[in-house]
Amino acid sequence: MPKLTYLGHSAFLIEGSKARLIIDPFLSGNPKAPKKPEEIKVDYVLLSHAHGDHLGDAIAIAKANKATVVAPFELAGYCESKGTLTHPLHIGGGFNFPFGRIKLTIAHHGSVTPDGVYGGSPCGFLVTMDGKTLYHSGDTALFYDMKLIGEMNAIDVALLPIGDNFTMGIPDAAKAAELLNARLTVPMHYDTFDLIKADPNEFVKQASAKGRKAQVVPVGGTLEY
Ligand code: NI
Ligand code: MN
Repeated sequence: MPKLTYLGHSAFLIEGSKARLIIDPFLSGNPKAPKKPEEIKVDYVLLSHAHGDHLGDAIAIAKANKATVVAPFELAGYCESKGTLTHPLHIGGGFNFPFGRIKLTIAHHGSVTPDGVYGGSPCGFLVTMDGKTLYHSGDTALFYDMKLIGEMNAIDVALLPIGDNFTMGIPDAAKAAELLNARLTVPMHYDTFDLIKADPNEFVKQASAKGRKAQVVPVGGTLEY
């Protein structure tokens, strides 16, 4: 079973039998992050979009680990220009890596690097490894195609933003959990900044009311799925 560790905000470490992945590693800029970038040992770095709270320490981590950045084409090109290995993908496309499959989904959001470079379309990720499927939505609004994603993929764990303001808030995230029909849903992208304060237990309550199991993973906490 893959092991997921919540590193705060939208950052997750995923350890499978064949590879270690990190998604949206915003660590040094997040006082609440439980690990420093130098402590991260990974084979792949997945980036949902170019905003600073997602790009974070990706380039430093990828270079230090000789890890491959997996991101939408434009953002992958940016990372490559900064000296990382990359594997570009684009929305709707997937690739069978040696450890499993990564497919990019749509996300309704923006994408520009902190230094002003256009990052292409933001995305979400379907990551399948060791027979389990994880969905990380990236930063996004609620969209009805989540129903299609849920119909076409048996999702074991879905990671959804609940912080409102820049992404879905709690009622929309609970609806997203309903549409995706994942075995388990975990909230993310809340409480990092004042603008995105949210009560994750309220999300669990609203998802449960729609018949969906949700669980809060505390920052630094782990979960096998
Ligand atoms: Ni963003
Ligand atoms: Mn964000």
